[in-house]
Amino acid sequence: MRGATVYYLKILLAICTVHEMAGGLIRNTTDAAYKKYLSLRSLPFEDCGSLYRVNYLDIESCSTLPCSMKRNAIIKVTVLFDDNGNGVTFLKHEVRWVFNYIKTQAAISPDPCDGDHDCIMSASDGKTYWANIFVNETLPVMRGSMLWESKDECNQNLICFEVPVLITV
Ligand SMILES: *[C@@H]1O[C@H](CO)[C@@H](O)[C@H](O)[C@H]1NC(C)=O
Ligand SMILES: *[C@@H]1O[C@H](CO)[C@@H](O)[C@H](O)[C@H]1NC(C)=O
Repeated sequence: MRGATVYYLKILLAICTVHEMAGGLIRNTTDAAYKKYLSLRSLPFEDCGSLYRVNYLDIESCSTLPCSMKRNAIIKVTVLFDDNGNGVTFLKHEVRWVFNYIKTQAAISPDPCDGDHDCIMSASDGKTYWANIFVNETLPVMRGSMLWESKDECNQNLICFEVPVLITV
């Protein structure tokens, strides 16, 4: 009797283990395929030390680098990132223009991004946020870059990416 119970338990355990492995593999495969799909559609960017992996970046009306940005324009930026299930609901943006190593603060809205503006949402895999950046008319008409950092309530850097830009008139 005892031997039979152990035998059945072993079978049960084997079935559960196989199921878990299969589930994990399938999840991993779709996860990897989805991330690959996102990264192929993403604008290329340089990661400058994100805590959370940035999977996708979209800058309105920009499909090639450097991103052409017209003075006085307001441009929407959308980012998908993995928050590792941490339920991120707050982002304080610190965005700077970099021209010849000189950094100037960019105007971002909404900032900070919290629950009030529908600017951060759960995506099928992680989080997505959007914000508008204002291309100040005082920016020099030249090539440079946009350095985007987003921090949490404790000023910890969660996201950092840099994209080459070209300011136009
Ligand atoms: C799924 O992928 C993670 C890393 O991406 C790995 O640590 C884990 O072992 C994988 N799970 C399975 C069941 O393959
Ligand atoms: C645009 O830049 C000027 C000069 O740097 C600054 O005084 C002004 O506040 C900026 N405008 C915005 C909306 O950030």
